[in-house]
Formats: sequence, structure tokens, C-alpha cells
Amino acid sequence: MPRIAYVNGQYVPHAQAAVHVEDRGYQFADAVYEVWGVIDGALTDFDGHLTRLARSLRELEIRQPVSDSALTAVLHRLVSVNRIHHGLVYLQISRGVARRDHVYPDPAVPASIVITVRSPPAAAAEARARHGISIITRPDERWARRDIKTVSLLPNVIAKQAAHRKGAAECWMIDPNGMITEGAAANAWIINADGVLVTRPANNDILNGITRRIILALADREGLKTEERPFSRDEALQAREAFITSATSYLTPVVQIDGQAVGNGHPGSLSLRLRHSYVATAKERSRRSSARRPVWLVARQSKRLQN
Ligand code: PDD
Repeated sequence: MPRIAYVNGQYVPHAQAAVHVEDRGYQFADAVYEVWGVIDGALTDFDGHLTRLARSLRELEIRQPVSDSALTAVLHRLVSVNRIHHGLVYLQISRGVARRDHVYPDPAVPASIVITVRSPPAAAAEARARHGISIITRPDERWARRDIKTVSLLPNVIAKQAAHRKGAAECWMIDPNGMITEGAAANAWIINADGVLVTRPANNDILNGITRRIILALADREGLKTEERPFSRDEALQAREAFITSATSYLTPVVQIDGQAVGNGHPGSLSLRLRHSYVATAKERSRRSSARRPVWLVARQSKRLQN
């Protein structure tokens, strides 16, 4: 079965999914995106990502081209027709197609929407979680509105490539005051000697990760102390544990920063416990939501698509 994508109202084979060359996402990175993890066939933290998408669009004055309910139906349908059990859904909305001009098109043109799904091998992610990852650090070279999830990711791409060249999986970026902002594609956390979870507060300096918010809530539920404040690279090197969070990596322990071991150089027990809680909670929610989703509807939607 070919992989199916969604482009501007049409379900199309992934290989034929395309937008116009004058799409403003392509020419100006004038677009926002969202990524949902899929665990046991269910989109994780669904509402959180949908709400953040609406916020990103609002901040950039881009009109959401489909209603929340239509979007919800499309997202669930893509997961079901592509039979994604574990993986991710990528959604991108740009300001639309118009003759190249920096100024927003006036009158506005319809926003472009593209949604794709992917099911990367789960084993690699599990191995990273089990063994932990190495990260590097570099200056944060991004713009001042990192709270908006825009596709303008060149500094993140360069940071990830720098990490990749050094055999590391992530790059934590450092602000002019010497404090860590976040990873190139994930939020940054440490657990200090007192067992306190520390992560940077959510303002314009970082993307307020949906996974970050869930982990803060889980930590609270488990009676762990959390502090939302900036921390430095030195503090991270003194930490007992460190980890990253994102929709696709969930929670992954960091065992090395710039070649130096964090804690005993192995994934921390608290990090692993929180990862376990996160996945277990997501699976539980998935069980509850699939119990509500009528099987006949999923079957009918798949059949209609094949016809
Ligand atoms: N990245 N910070 C940055 C810069 C990110 O790109 C991401 C997510 C996060 C974590 O956010 P969340 O928990 O909502 O996924 C933090 C996605 C997964 C990506 O770009 O693929």
C-alpha cells in the first residue's frame, strides 16, 4: 500500500505530494508546522499540539485553512489509512502561493496545508533511550521568536549537523548569557544533585514543548520538585541526570555533554522512570480513545480512500 499524504484538500500518494514553486513556505519559510507522535495508533497529546498550531498561526496572521474538526478528522484518517502504529505525523501550513514579494499577499490567498506521516523503526529510538545520547553545545544563532513553531529552521539544521559530525544526537544551544536555551529539535532538562528537575521557562527564548508540559505535569503528579529557570552548561555538567523531550523522542536521557559524562555516564533512573510514565500514560490514553473510535468508521474511511 503506498503511503498517503494530504495536500490542500486531497489525499495523494506520498511520492506525488507537492506544492507550487511559489509557495511562501518554500520561498520565505513563511509557514508553521506541528509534529505529533503516534503511540499505539493514537496521536499523542493531540489537543496540546492543535492549540499550539492555532497560536503559531495567530502570531503570524495566517488563517487556518480548515476547521479544527475537519483537521482532526484528516489527521486521524491519515494515521489509520497509513496503518501507523508507532511513528509521527508532520503538518505544515504556509501563507499560500503568490508571486514572490516579501509583503503578505493582499488580498490574502488560501493558506497551503500539507500533512505527511512516517513510521521510523522503533528499535533505534528505544536503543537511544536505553543507552542515552551524547550532545554537543553551541551558541544559539536563532531569531527572537522561538516560541513560534515556524519552518524557518536553518540555525537548528546547522546545529544538528554540527552534532552529527561529532557523532552526537543533539545540540544544546547557548544564549549570550551562557545559559542553555534548548536543543535543535527538543527541550533541554537537567536533574540536579537535590533531585530537582530544571528546565528553561517558556517564553520567547524557547519553543514551549508539548512533551515538556506533560513531563512537568507528570513530575508534579509524582511529587518531584521542578524549577523553570535557565541553567548553564557548567550546571548541566555537574547535574546528576540530563535529558531531552520532544513529541518524537518522548524523553531521552543525555549521558554526555561535549565529550564529558553526565552523572555516572549512564541514563539516570529518574529520567527512565519519567520516560516510562510518559509512554504508559500515552498508551492508556490511546486505549481509551480507540475504545471510543468506532471501528466501522475507520474501516469505511479506508475503503472510501481506496475507491
Ligand atoms: N521538534 N524545541 C524545539 C526547537 C523543537 O523543534 C521541538 C520539537 C521541541 C519539543 O516540542 P514538542 O515536545 O512539542 O515536540 C522543542 C519536533 C519534534 C521536530 O521539529 O521534529
